[in-house]
Amino acid sequence: MEFSIKGGELSKLKAGCVVVGVFDSKKLTAAAASLDAVSKGAIKSAVSSGDITGKLGSTLLLHSVNGVVAERVLLVGLGSEASYGDSAYCRAATAAFKALKSTGVTDVVIPVASATTKEMAFKVEQSAVGAISAAYRYTATKKLDGKVGKSVTFFINGKYDEKAIKAAIKHGEAIGEGMNLTKMLGDLPPNIATPAFLASTAKDLAKDYKFKCTVLEKKEMEKLGMNTLLSVSKGSYLPPKFIVLEHNGGKKGAAPVVLVGKGITFDTGGISLKPASEMDEMKYDMCGAGSMIGVMKTVGMLKLPLNIVMLVPTCENMPGGNATRPGDIVKSMSGQTIEILNTDAEGRLILADALTYAERFKPDCVVDAATLTGAMVVALGHVTTGIFSSDDKLGAELVAAGNTAHDKAWLLPMGEEYDEGLKSNFADIPNIAGRAGGSITAACFLARFTGKYKWAHMDIAGTAWNSGKEKGATGRPVPLLAKFLMNRAGV
Ligand code: BES
Ligand code: MN
Ligand code: ZN
Repeated sequence: MEFSIKGGELSKLKAGCVVVGVFDSKKLTAAAASLDAVSKGAIKSAVSSGDITGKLGSTLLLHSVNGVVAERVLLVGLGSEASYGDSAYCRAATAAFKALKSTGVTDVVIPVASATTKEMAFKVEQSAVGAISAAYRYTATKKLDGKVGKSVTFFINGKYDEKAIKAAIKHGEAIGEGMNLTKMLGDLPPNIATPAFLASTAKDLAKDYKFKCTVLEKKEMEKLGMNTLLSVSKGSYLPPKFIVLEHNGGKKGAAPVVLVGKGITFDTGGISLKPASEMDEMKYDMCGAGSMIGVMKTVGMLKLPLNIVMLVPTCENMPGGNATRPGDIVKSMSGQTIEILNTDAEGRLILADALTYAERFKPDCVVDAATLTGAMVVALGHVTTGIFSSDDKLGAELVAAGNTAHDKAWLLPMGEEYDEGLKSNFADIPNIAGRAGGSITAACFLARFTGKYKWAHMDIAGTAWNSGKEKGATGRPVPLLAKFLMNRAGV
């Protein structure tokens, strides 16, 4: 995607489309009003015709507007002017890019109203994220149909801080590209996106961005005593991998942020087999891993001045003659024994050993992302990611990062009362508690392995992908994680 900044006369810019806003009071933004003036009222008449109400996220595409050089004008509803802010801007921008997706437009002009540098930079960054994210197409096993966005011109009338706006474009690009890598990894079928494929993707990233990449094989995992991870992998013919990516962009010796992603490349449930309906969507059970690999791309593109370690335990959860049985007891790398009562609660098993492995990096904090529980979808739907943390400050930091990135997350409770369900007559911990509060007890299970550092867990079961007609990975929570890391790096 090409980005540029232009000034001058909006109506005279050559482009496939100019995007301008309308409030629900029918009031036009300054950019919309300028096009209305040159077109002798074409915009106002489209609005008063009732074809667009100005409702937030509504759109209307106009062709060949008199006096406007661009081939099309896309009107976007901005909602009420009084409540128009960052969040509304993001929703309007997303709606605009979505509307353009089904057109032949490849180059678009986005006017950025002059305001404070901070406001302009926010809008430019979010628009860049939106443009790149909207240009994502799955093409690995299907022909591309339609056209894909190629360029975005930000139209800025008057003075602006060029350095800040260019930096905002760069940030937006890095977040968008990170998201698209995450989407691609999620959307690839489980016979392609295998543990070995994730490992080779990580190795490619390491080459591109000078990360250190280490991939532990089954033998090494055995030596380390990663038996809970291995117990999940046992029913699969594909070997498990444990991927480590290290970015040393910070001060030498500074404690790193450790990112951990659940990388189940397909979750059948194992012997506790899942029902057939929609089981294909369990290819997305590596989206935690995918989002960590994706955000490492963002980190690499931005060369963030921060030490970051990414850990991805990855394998399949399959039934089979050698698969783990409900009732099996395994000894985790931490030394705690685990009674596996349900082989479908496998994510927490692979994470347990990864969280123990994280200790060796003496982390500043550890953040994991996992499509961990169906209960998360019941609790927060497909809108908000659930966050759990043993450290209130870290939890709040992640929620705040999600708010600025427009990648919403919500802090949920944990604690002793919830932990009480995790009792086994035969092992230190069972891998499931009762049905009630399933996402919370899953977090409590993980907490048993995170005593040595500050830790937060993100359950992205509801937000990592869309089902139905729009089936596809969302690229979340890359924006949240990127903002979290960018804030920490001070960029
Ligand atoms: N990967 C699933 C969670 C999941 C299910 C995410 C549906 C998104 C949509 C996870 O491994 C799982 O199967 N969890 C079980 C846990 C249960 C056995 C305690 C679940 O949520 O049913
Ligand atoms: Mn499962
Ligand atoms: Zn799973």
